[in-house]
Amino acid sequence: MQKITPGILSQLKKIDSKEISGSRLGINYERLLAEPELTAAELALSQIGNFEPLDYKLDTHGIESVIQEKYASDWTDYLPRADRPNNRKSLTLTTIPGWDHTSPPSIPDAAKHLGRIPAELEFCNPTPLYNDCDRAYPGNTSLKAFLDEWQPLGRTFIVNSNTGGYFVPHRDHPGHPRPCFRLVAFLKNCGPYDYDWWMDDRKANIELGRVYYVNTKMTHRTISWVDNSWHLIVNVPLTLENVDRVIKNLQHRH
Ligand SMILES: [Fe+2]
Repeated sequence: MQKITPGILSQLKKIDSKEISGSRLGINYERLLAEPELTAAELALSQIGNFEPLDYKLDTHGIESVIQEKYASDWTDYLPRADRPNNRKSLTLTTIPGWDHTSPPSIPDAAKHLGRIPAELEFCNPTPLYNDCDRAYPGNTSLKAFLDEWQPLGRTFIVNSNTGGYFVPHRDHPGHPRPCFRLVAFLKNCGPYDYDWWMDDRKANIELGRVYYVNTKMTHRTISWVDNSWHLIVNVPLTLENVDRVIKNLQHRH
């Protein structure tokens, strides 16, 4: 494959991605030079939309029954705020070696534990919860079967947002190329009056159990109006193969 010549990119300051927040990376020209195909991957993703349903319909009853039977008391505080209340918890599905479903799913928490900032792919190890979520009625997909198809994955977890639980307007990995993109599914109490996911000034239409490609480079914010609103966050490594799989599994085709 022909390499991009540095040109204007070479004038950009060299960035050590291990020493800077993911939201301040900008253009990582060294990685672009090494993997120019990632620009094609981003271009392909940018053409399909920002909140796009895929062909996967997860068995939400199967996931809920596993959690109620074995994991109901294991929800862990997710990025708790010291300055104001924010009512949300998580259960982890993939994590770093030695951690389990009760371990926090954030990179800052793992960095504190490891003494260095880990790469997204270091979080690909299935937890006991991941392996237990293998139940599905005909026509639906079990959570385990869905995740297995996308391995190796980055951080993957379920968020449980209680009344008033929110994420302020933010962007995930606005730089280029990003290490991973997001797939999101809504598992429980995500009806139009239960839970809001806003993309810019537009509230997303949510189907329970449906998996969506969500462009989280775009400013988004969420809030729950009820207790126990559950959604799944999947960090998929940005590769041509994974983008190809998204495009081949779009729900709306001709
Ligand atoms: Fe986000």
